[in-house]
Amino acid sequence: PIEKRIEDLLAKMTLEEKVGQLNFVVGDLFNTGPTVRTSQSDKFNDAIKKGEITGIFNIHGAEYVGKLQKLAVKESRLGIPLIIGADIIHGFKTVFPIPLGESASWDLAAIENGSRVAAIESTAGGINLTFAPMVDISRDSRWGRTAEGAGEDPYLGSLIAAARVKGFQGKDLADPRTMAACVKHFVAYGAAEAGRDYNTTDMSEYLLRDVYLPPFKAALDAGSATLMSAFNELNGVPATGNMFTMDQILRKEWGFKGAVISDWQNITEMVNHGYSKDHAQAAEQALRAGTDVDMMGEAYLKFVPELVKSGKLDQKILDESVRRVLWLKFRLGLFDNPYLYSDVKREKKEIRSKENLAAAFDMARKSMVLLKNQGNILPLTTATKKIAVIGPLGNNKADMNGTWSFFGEEQHAVSFLEGIKKYAKGAEVTFAEGCDLYTNSTDKFAAAVAAARNADVVIMAIGESAVMNGEGASRADIGLPGVQLDLVKEIHKTGKPIVALVSSGRALELSWLGQNIPTIMATWSLGSEAGNAVASVLFGEYNPAGKLPLSFPRHVGQLPLYYNIKNTGRMYEGTHSEPGSERVYRSRYRDVPNTALYPFGYGLSYTTFAYGQPKLNKSSIGGNENLVLTVDVTNTGKYTGEEVVQLYIQDLVGSTARPVKQLKKFQKLSFAPGEKKTVTFTLNASDLSFWRQNMTFGAEPGDFKIMVGGNSRDVQTLPFTLTSTSI
Ligand code: IFM
Repeated sequence: PIEKRIEDLLAKMTLEEKVGQLNFVVGDLFNTGPTVRTSQSDKFNDAIKKGEITGIFNIHGAEYVGKLQKLAVKESRLGIPLIIGADIIHGFKTVFPIPLGESASWDLAAIENGSRVAAIESTAGGINLTFAPMVDISRDSRWGRTAEGAGEDPYLGSLIAAARVKGFQGKDLADPRTMAACVKHFVAYGAAEAGRDYNTTDMSEYLLRDVYLPPFKAALDAGSATLMSAFNELNGVPATGNMFTMDQILRKEWGFKGAVISDWQNITEMVNHGYSKDHAQAAEQALRAGTDVDMMGEAYLKFVPELVKSGKLDQKILDESVRRVLWLKFRLGLFDNPYLYSDVKREKKEIRSKENLAAAFDMARKSMVLLKNQGNILPLTTATKKIAVIGPLGNNKADMNGTWSFFGEEQHAVSFLEGIKKYAKGAEVTFAEGCDLYTNSTDKFAAAVAAARNADVVIMAIGESAVMNGEGASRADIGLPGVQLDLVKEIHKTGKPIVALVSSGRALELSWLGQNIPTIMATWSLGSEAGNAVASVLFGEYNPAGKLPLSFPRHVGQLPLYYNIKNTGRMYEGTHSEPGSERVYRSRYRDVPNTALYPFGYGLSYTTFAYGQPKLNKSSIGGNENLVLTVDVTNTGKYTGEEVVQLYIQDLVGSTARPVKQLKKFQKLSFAPGEKKTVTFTLNASDLSFWRQNMTFGAEPGDFKIMVGGNSRDVQTLPFTLTSTSI
């Protein structure tokens, strides 16, 4: 058995070799150019031979990895193979939409398949561990890493987390077409104050358990082999040395047995936090808390041997961490065949295969969210003879792949212009950049206005570049960067119909566009097939069906903004500007409504859906009974289309005050024109559970509302009562 093999190996290891198994180092990927990322350095050879590193991350190449494994297996004393990690966040060489975009599909099978394809490609490229899924809840889009997660909701986020783990890991980790997942960043990293990356987080245990922890639990229940500790401090204690979250919750309550990997130098950064006096103390605190692997800090390498020798740190703690790392290497099949991920023929066959690109195309189409389509400008018809593509993202390959796509060569990405030209069949397509993504020059405005004047329809490709979101890319102003809004206003003056394709890794503030531009589509960063996917939607080959996984604000000052808010003592439902409202002492702003511009769960289609009167099987249920809601949904338009039917609840009185709405179920269904389907949802007391005042998890008897609709705002409501609970 593996346990016996691990103990035998552990018995042979010196203190230094043990510590080496906890030391994870980065390759040169970040330092190479944007189009060629193949750096294959020999700089690790000595460390590998000495057993000083457990693995290398952000390198790739089947042959290169094979060479490194050979060094580890043949030339180090104990022959322990290497972990090869990488940020396979949304694809490898075939790039899928950024995770926030994928999440807008609400299509769990497609999301799982996206991770599956990423695993197949990247394992062919030598990688056996991905630093994904990122499951941090984000309620504040100033935070750049919103792009990497599933948005603001813990229920949707949990389902997506599990789907992605299943996709990466498949059924058997030792299958060379699967890889270990690393769910991150534990925990509450997405709650960074003011959306500033790496910033302090401070929250109640209720909020932590109800909102921020569930996606982690879901990923671990789905089998995530590893977990990454976060950069932030939580309630005064850095996450990576936090005994409460890492030891009490993760290990003791949840029983997680896998390896915990630190984030980049976040062990030594505990000194910067003002929590550890030096790197030696940081190493001790992190290892004690259960952070097994030190990414790029070298604190374990340098200080743990002495900490153990001096008796400051019990050797048993070190051994436990080493066991967890060896366990991972066994589960990956590396001890039986260290060259599992070094098959050059497979690498050639799998990477950017036709099937993989087709899956990326499918996912990109599913990710787009139609926010507005006044006058049904979309889909474009053959009556459109002249199309002007305008904007800095129109003829742009570099930004299509989005954040964390180091392996995807930008020259392979299909630009919007290329896609539109391909699909436009017979129509004349012109392009004008109008302005660039960041700077304030308006020099190119005139040419863009001229192009617009000469067109039947203008497709504006605007938004964020790939590096305007992601790690370290928080923004205080989440409008369109640079002079892009001014450009839109100039084009708007021409009176031509405008379709705004807005790319971003967050919820942008689009108030002016919302008021003035007839057609708006959220296009995130769509990956390798961006242009083809966009064109397929513009020309009606595919009917958009995405729904927002996070609320789009009216104003940056509303942030944090999320649908599952709580009532205050002075909730305000009116409009901010109603006469006499200046004397109303309510929870609201004087200048902006409380509501989102586009709410969570929102998204239009080229067709329309009508919801019938929902019905419940009974008006009250006991703790062991099911509540069944049925509602008829009809496609009342002329296109086949998909609708995400969403179910929310509100617990009216709780031992801790409950949110006004919480997503509990959803179904994504396809409807032919005129087709009616009866949609059925079943709930029981476990769906009504939360962390109660006494810090136990369960439901509380009482009155509830159940709501159903096509987004979190436009719902129909029925009351019901939970009479007892067995939870
Ligand atoms: O995986 C990432 C993490 O999300 C942020 N810091 C660097 C790590 C490795 O690249």
